[in-house]
Amino acid sequence: MKIETLRWFNNRLEMIDQRILPAAFEYLSYYTAHSVAEGIRSMVVRGAPAIGVAAAYGVALEALRLSQLLPPGRGKVGMGVDSVNDSTPTLTLPLQGGGNGSVDFNAGMETGFTVLAASRPTAVNLFWALQRMRKVWESVATQTPQQVAQRLLAEAHEILAEDIRINKAMGAHGAALLKDGARVLTHCNAGALATAGWGTALGVFRSAVEAGKKISVIADETRPFLQGARLTAWEMVQESIPVTLITDNMAGHLMAHGEIDAVVVGTDRVAANGDVANKIGTYMVAVLAKRHNIPFYVACPLSTIDLNIASGKDIPIEERSVEEVKGFRDYHWAAEGVKIRNPAFDVTPAELVTGLITEKGVVLQPDVQGIRTLMRQ
Ligand code: MRU
Repeated sequence: MKIETLRWFNNRLEMIDQRILPAAFEYLSYYTAHSVAEGIRSMVVRGAPAIGVAAAYGVALEALRLSQLLPPGRGKVGMGVDSVNDSTPTLTLPLQGGGNGSVDFNAGMETGFTVLAASRPTAVNLFWALQRMRKVWESVATQTPQQVAQRLLAEAHEILAEDIRINKAMGAHGAALLKDGARVLTHCNAGALATAGWGTALGVFRSAVEAGKKISVIADETRPFLQGARLTAWEMVQESIPVTLITDNMAGHLMAHGEIDAVVVGTDRVAANGDVANKIGTYMVAVLAKRHNIPFYVACPLSTIDLNIASGKDIPIEERSVEEVKGFRDYHWAAEGVKIRNPAFDVTPAELVTGLITEKGVVLQPDVQGIRTLMRQ
């Protein structure tokens, strides 16, 4: 099954609503940067590369809206989902520069960039994509808003297509590291749903299977948002790749009993020294893997490496709503009044990373030198 996490359809961006998977499979439609930002913030779309692709389309949509290339009635500045279907109303915000078509294109675009940049802090792919879109905008700034909008849309399409190509290249490099019959643990969801398609860590599994290897996957549930239970397990089941779901606190037990041969995870940001930010709980898995001499690999497109950040301690870590820890959806199991923390990511020091799997190859024992060399290639 080909999973199209994001797709361009009839002058709009459609994204699978990942909050309701696997109970329901539904696309939501987006027409503005504001609503795309809300889609990122509220986790309709999540996963570092997918967030980057969504942001690129957010910029393109804003340009289309401001240059009035969207069909009439579309592209109101909505805060939430623009529509599940064509009849769902949107919340509206005032347009920059007043109504009646007198919108200041440049000011409106700047607002779009700002709103998108504020949606989530940890995945650097968001900022990488915004910077790439800004450069394209600057390169055609003298053209008409309509021409700018078309150019930005073409760039968003290219970012999406490129992401899938990169994942396949990473998949081939990563698959070579897994032996036939390997039992591989993963944490969170670094799959097709976290990217434009194929996935980073799950892309490695898909490529291994495509290469004829009989691997099996152990999926950490990934509290509190349950990306492992809801999304990774679902993706693997769709692909008929053998998958076993465990709660996060079972990984050490399985490792101690020789039931895990390798760990492959994704990442939201890698610092210049090779420290890796990924979903909360990844650090715990890496420590356990080291203790049990199990290789710990990180699937990492180059767009996730942030050379502006010297080490992991400077990576901004998102703190999410306490509601996510208190219970699930409407059901609360925690004692009312208890103090709750909810950091959404943690940092695994480079010394615990066996290798970074990138589209250009594998960097073993990543450090400043190894990453510098990789980025210069
Ligand atoms: O909070 P999320 O679901 O956006 O977190 C996702 C992860 O931590 C992924 O492992 C990471 O983004 C890599 S996705 C290829």
